[in-house]
Amino acid sequence: MESFLVNGAKTLVGNVNISGAKNAAVAIIPAALLSDTPCILENIPNIKDVQIQLEILQNIGAKVTKLDENTIQIDPSNISCSTISYEAAKKIRASYYFLGALLGRFNHASIAMPGGCNLGARPIDQHIKGFEALGAKVELEHGMVQAHAEKLVGGNLYFDVVSVGATINVMLAAVKAQGTTVLENAAKEPHVVDVANFLNSLGADIFGAGTDIIKIKGVKHLSGRQYSIIPDQIEAGTFMLCAMVTHGNITIKNVTPKHLFAITEKIKNCGAIVTEFDDAVRVQMPNRPISTKIKTMPYPGFPTDMQPQIVAMLSLASGTSIVTEGVWENRFKYVNELSRLGAKLQVNDRTVIVEGVESLNAAPVKATDLRAGAALLIAALAAKGATEIEDIYHIERGYDNVVDKLKKLGADIVKINK
Ligand code: EPZ
Repeated sequence: MESFLVNGAKTLVGNVNISGAKNAAVAIIPAALLSDTPCILENIPNIKDVQIQLEILQNIGAKVTKLDENTIQIDPSNISCSTISYEAAKKIRASYYFLGALLGRFNHASIAMPGGCNLGARPIDQHIKGFEALGAKVELEHGMVQAHAEKLVGGNLYFDVVSVGATINVMLAAVKAQGTTVLENAAKEPHVVDVANFLNSLGADIFGAGTDIIKIKGVKHLSGRQYSIIPDQIEAGTFMLCAMVTHGNITIKNVTPKHLFAITEKIKNCGAIVTEFDDAVRVQMPNRPISTKIKTMPYPGFPTDMQPQIVAMLSLASGTSIVTEGVWENRFKYVNELSRLGAKLQVNDRTVIVEGVESLNAAPVKATDLRAGAALLIAALAAKGATEIEDIYHIERGYDNVVDKLKKLGADIVKINK
């Protein structure tokens, strides 16, 4: 079993390079199977979730060639299978993107219900509603989702909830459908825009990604191009908070500052000094953070994927903060673990009340999911003494080379194998 051992309370100073966005990469990899010819993807993060998506792609017949550390070539021309097994799908939520992509390519797809972080109910009714609007018949049988269409025809669709996954999945299915599809109440996250930009670079005709109405004119063929994945806003935000809890000074490079706006504004309210450059942000934190009120929302609101991490930071703030989860029904499983380090947290339905403490103290803790793990890492970097974080496979699903990146900033962290 692998753990991180973190000897905390060290000031983090220096530069860190942010990797490609996990949630863009895990969608663009399946999207590549819609192309008739090979694609080259740059800025691919070296993380478990990406490896799993690539394995699924290879299992159905694509050829994946690693060109360098962060660049891959995907040749989808020999894919013949449109079924994704339970063994593959259970490992990762984003396996559901193969449903839209395979349906778009073969008019047929069959995939086991996807796995992923346990954040409460994770329905896929909006994905199904979207495929049905394109003329597909979707059935759930023996844990498999089966989608089939004689032919896909563009349709109009209003999403009942703003869903990143459903917006991307229906876009994948619609890109080669006959006629025009209009998606209303679409998600506006940077990774939704990145998938649309990738598909447009292959010859798709998608207009309006990044707004809540997306129009997709179906095209017959897509052909491979070279495309670079956007930087990971959540990895960047996590390092911003590492600077805050260690009274550090970190320049976070290879980012799109605009994508970080909600995080930047919020941490400025909490006392951080943030300097923006073209593709970097510097976070300095000379004083103790100040408490605040936050509600997570779909983009451009404060991201739910930063909620556990910002609670870790606020647990050290002066005053009491109130953090409300506005996206997921149960994203507070990390609270008990964070409390072991001395954080004073009280959960009430979808809100956590954070009574700031002067300092945190080391204790053995366990990551319960990806961002829960990131929150524990932030807390451990601030805590006095040596904290052991177990179940770090959750953290490695989404953070590329996190130990080396933190070490370069002056953290005392090692990965141990017991
Ligand atoms: C994506 O999940 C991300 N995952 C999540 O990041 C992120 O938390 C989430 O978007 C919200 O930003 C990937 O991109 C791989 P949703 P997704 O569909 O697409 C409800 C991380 O830590 N809903 O936008 O699965 C749903 O229950 C991960 O990196 C329906 O009701 O999330 C939730 O309340 C965790 N019906 C809300 O919508 C549906 O059909 C938003 O979910 C779909 C969703």
